[in-house]
Amino acid sequence: MNILVTGGCGFIGCNFIRYLLEEYPQSNVINLDKLTYAGNPSSLKDLQENERRYTFVHGDIADKELVSRLILDFGLETIVNFAAETHVDRSIDDPSEFITTNVQGSYNLMECARKLEVPRFVHISTDEVYGSLGPSGVFTEDTPLAPNSPYSASKAAADLMARSYYKTYGFPVIITRCSNNYGPYQFPEKLIPLVYLRAMENRQIPVYGRGENIRDWIHVRDHCRGVAMAMEKGRPGAIYNFGGDAEKKNIDVVRSILDFVGKSHGLITFVNDRPGHDLRYAMDYSLARRELGWEPLTSFSEGLASTLSWYAENKDWIQELQTGAYREFMDKWYKERC
Ligand code: NAD
Ligand code: TYD
Repeated sequence: MNILVTGGCGFIGCNFIRYLLEEYPQSNVINLDKLTYAGNPSSLKDLQENERRYTFVHGDIADKELVSRLILDFGLETIVNFAAETHVDRSIDDPSEFITTNVQGSYNLMECARKLEVPRFVHISTDEVYGSLGPSGVFTEDTPLAPNSPYSASKAAADLMARSYYKTYGFPVIITRCSNNYGPYQFPEKLIPLVYLRAMENRQIPVYGRGENIRDWIHVRDHCRGVAMAMEKGRPGAIYNFGGDAEKKNIDVVRSILDFVGKSHGLITFVNDRPGHDLRYAMDYSLARRELGWEPLTSFSEGLASTLSWYAENKDWIQELQTGAYREFMDKWYKERC
């Protein structure tokens, strides 16, 4: 089975490629990645050097000729689309790349796959397309889309395009929507690795607003297993929610990390809130449980401990990221905030 994974040098993509190669011995994986600031080939260095079932292709999902050639040359049977611009704060700073990759790029990938009759396509999306919950309630797959950030709006646009491809052309696309992931290889612009790294350097920890916003945290391996199950036995045209059963206030997540690494809560600095900041996300994943037999297996406390230990043991990986485009944005964004 030849599977194209896009965005495989990013956080979830690289965990998913490892999962596929481990759990699906018949699979060959082709990773198409543009290597933006968030793409890190060293996350898969060992596979690049030693795994003949793994091929890396440097390129853009919005490149029609390249995508068509890959489909034909590799006789692709499945495409799993992780490639995206993913950081909400960056989308607030400048939405343009979010439109180019998340909307135009996803459209291009689906259009090439439809024309060349790729029999399976999994589009990876997010709970953020549903907008924000109040103190109660959960998102189901039927919750109306109400995105509040340029990031989530661009993801919702691609989801709607995918829906139209199924309804109009019968294109066998499946959409998965997941809550906040954490785990190894996450880029340190996102909350958990950001807090860990800043704590280790005894720097202030920027908490937006009063830290009362709630996210439902899921270990990346649970998400990867869900995507693989959707790929294997998902119903064409279906949407599957995945959640971690771990709703936490940001302030509690930050405190847990500081406690784990033995640093003072005094590092916490409340800063101006993120504009359009969604209050709460929570997922009903009963459809995935019923149709795929999926549920999350890792508790937040176990997952957080193993993730923080991974960061502690992989300082080289972190070191490589602390340059260039990453540093530029972080300096600019947090300069006015901390
Ligand atoms: P990430 O930012 O860590 O990685 C994105 C990857 O996509 C990078 O390797 C980057 O180089 C690549 N990429 C960007 N533009 C590209 C293009 N035009 N062509 C080819 N490659 C390109 O992202 P992530 O956190 O791993 O998220 C992966 C997917 O999962 C995204 O679609 C995201 O919306 C979705 N998702 C993420 C979360 C989360 O908590 N991180 C939750 C739900 C859904
Ligand atoms: P993030 O990891 O950016 O994921 P998302 O915005 O996709 O949910 O942020 C998780 C939560 O943490 C979110 O409510 C915003 C908050 N946050 C902070 O309080 N400070 C920060 O510096 C960052 C990056 C996020």
